[in-house]
Amino acid sequence: MRKPLVLLLLFPVFVFGNAFWGKTGHRVTGEIAQEYLTGKAKRALNELLDGHSLAFVSTFADDIKADRSYSKYSAWHYVNYPLGMDYQDSEKSEYGDIVTAIQECIAKVKDEKNSREDRVFHLKLLIHFIGDLHQPMHASRGEDKGGNDIQVQWFGEGSNLHRVWDKNLIESYGMTYTELANELHEVDRKKRKEIQEGTIYDWVDESHEICAELYDSVEVGEKLGYRYSYDYNNLLFQQLQRGGLRLAKVLNEIFS
Ligand code: ADE
Ligand code: ZN
Ligand code: ZN
Repeated sequence: MRKPLVLLLLFPVFVFGNAFWGKTGHRVTGEIAQEYLTGKAKRALNELLDGHSLAFVSTFADDIKADRSYSKYSAWHYVNYPLGMDYQDSEKSEYGDIVTAIQECIAKVKDEKNSREDRVFHLKLLIHFIGDLHQPMHASRGEDKGGNDIQVQWFGEGSNLHRVWDKNLIESYGMTYTELANELHEVDRKKRKEIQEGTIYDWVDESHEICAELYDSVEVGEKLGYRYSYDYNNLLFQQLQRGGLRLAKVLNEIFS
């Protein structure tokens, strides 16, 4: 293939490829949630998703990113507001954000007067956005685009703080999404209840607070590798587990 054509085809990968909680993170969240669905939610989801798993549909919102006709949804994957502030006190984007996106998706899916197509579309987005909500760099600050402008090295290769949390860290364990979900799905009832407590507002501020710590965890240009991946293993796993259990809670409520 001629070079200009190759570059043209890869353009969307350069522009959009590194902006989202990678496929593995979303699938782990979906896989964990699947285990905690009520019978009623399971039946409704099975019908709307044509028998596909939550893990399978969890990446749909990223898959449509390269299609310009869906550009309206780009800003729905994250929110930026000043560190130290609560979401509810912050200035809102006219394009929407991950919180308004989740609220809109819940309303669309709940309303049985909406077309099946519309409900299914927003259901898939919802499953994805609850995952993104638990990637701390998706509840971040605007000046460096949620860490996308903070360059670091990951095992000797160029990366940035956002990308480390979207994919580098999770990929460093070399585990499939099912292996990761198996590691995380067993939670006793008391802990599960604790994790599932609260609202979208509590969850976004929780991620935002973690995000503030992550900004302090690196220096610009720092060489990250094994040390970082061990230090942040618990935090990464905790976020994946929270995402999964809370996704189950949201879906169980919708289909109750
Ligand atoms: N673009 C700007 N801010 C972002 C964020 N927090 N997450 C993903 N993409 C972004
Ligand atoms: Zn996303
Ligand atoms: Zn991202």
